Amino acid sequence: MIDSTIEKALNDQIEMEALSSHFYLAMASWSENQGLNGTAAFLYRHSDEERLHMLKLVRFVNERGGRAVIPALDAPQSEFSDLPAIFSTLLDHETKVTASINDVVDLCLKRKDYTTHNFMQWYVAEQIEEEALARNILDKLALIGQDKGGLYLFDRDLEQLQPEA
Ligand code: FEO
Repeated sequence: MIDSTIEKALNDQIEMEALSSHFYLAMASWSENQGLNGTAAFLYRHSDEERLHMLKLVRFVNERGGRAVIPALDAPQSEFSDLPAIFSTLLDHETKVTASINDVVDLCLKRKDYTTHNFMQWYVAEQIEEEALARNILDKLALIGQDKGGLYLFDRDLEQLQPEA
């Protein structure tokens, strides 16, 4: 049976992943409305990935004899000034997700819950990739600046990029 403190921390993490999915869905929709179809495709995939991150936690909590709680979510931000604003918001959010995952890992060690600790390692590795990818995209956008041709190619490239790549 899962420790109630760990159960609470995992339920908080479920909410965080659900929020990420919701957040990236709003970003995808904004991008699609701007005609940035490659960026939209990337962010729709990213939103789907986050839902899977949430689902993996839901199943784990229930399998361990706990009770996963599906949270209510506030409406996410839906207006953005430009692509750098989108991806810097995304990076800020991922940094918070990483901190939250690290807190869960820390709690697992304190409570000697090595099963959940082991399960959480997948999330630790995933966060390294997600943060690196967001930084890489922001670097590219900084290089492109206001160059319309560069933005066109950027958007086309993002169509092929996998969020977990
Ligand atoms: Fe599942 Fe991007 O954190």
